[in-house]
Amino acid sequence: MVNDVSMLNTSSTNPTANPAITPELTEALAASVRSKISQLLTLLKNAVSELPSITFANSFGAEDMLLTDLILKNQLPIEIFSLDTGRLPSETYDLMALVEQHYSTKLKVYFPKNETVEQYVQNHGINAFYASIDLRKSCCYMRKVEPLQRALTGKTAWITGMRAAQATTRASLPVREFDQANQLEKFNPLSDWTEQEVWAYIRMHEVPYNKLHEQFYPSIGCAPCTRAIAMGEDVRAGRWWWEDPLNKECGLHVKN
Ligand code: ADX
Ligand code: SF4
Repeated sequence: MVNDVSMLNTSSTNPTANPAITPELTEALAASVRSKISQLLTLLKNAVSELPSITFANSFGAEDMLLTDLILKNQLPIEIFSLDTGRLPSETYDLMALVEQHYSTKLKVYFPKNETVEQYVQNHGINAFYASIDLRKSCCYMRKVEPLQRALTGKTAWITGMRAAQATTRASLPVREFDQANQLEKFNPLSDWTEQEVWAYIRMHEVPYNKLHEQFYPSIGCAPCTRAIAMGEDVRAGRWWWEDPLNKECGLHVKN
């Protein structure tokens, strides 16, 4: 339960550029990124030739923008979809509009079922996710997990932008696994990428990104459940910051 409301959704006002998103593009870093791009492209092309109907879950975070750029520029036959929870930050909606313009594409967006959200708000209140872990998880379920299940219907595989280094819960993240919960193949092709490599790709390829990254938001979810992090904090420390870091996942990536 959140007791300190002053901690809710604090935006950093520090105008200093966030060094994490402007890595020095040394030759070594650029070479490492080029090599990983080549491996990534091979992996995606192999996946496409092995499996029909692959879809990519795009949250518009930095990792997902890298994958979006790679998929669209290489015209890979991979569908891209996003889950609009209805509570995303305005910066994410700005980026969604920019992506459509920048890549001359149309986004495929899934929304939660309106009756479920209306019932939840009627019963528990508009910000009930702060009141208990159960209410937080049921909000994530109706706004993300159920729409994800619809997005994955009829697919043989899905792709995420998760990295192993993002959290203790992701430390042993495989590049490929069978998603028991959703009964299809799952690829996490950026598993071994570092944050620095992701940002090097974004800079080298001039990929559009979420402006909240400039304000020390390395991981961006819904506005009320995401805050900026302090220097040295874990990259996902700003997500559901009031919860135990060992358990805080929204349910999109459960094992079974
Ligand atoms: S999570 O806790 O919200 O699941 P995170 O924001 O770190 O975690 O996202 C991990 C991956 O889950 C993203 O790279 C993306 O593939 C998928 N994902 C998360 N949120 C969304 C969303 N709103 N729409 C589509 N995919 C998403
Ligand atoms: Fe609800 Fe917060 Fe989960 Fe978004 S992140 S679905 S607002 S509990």
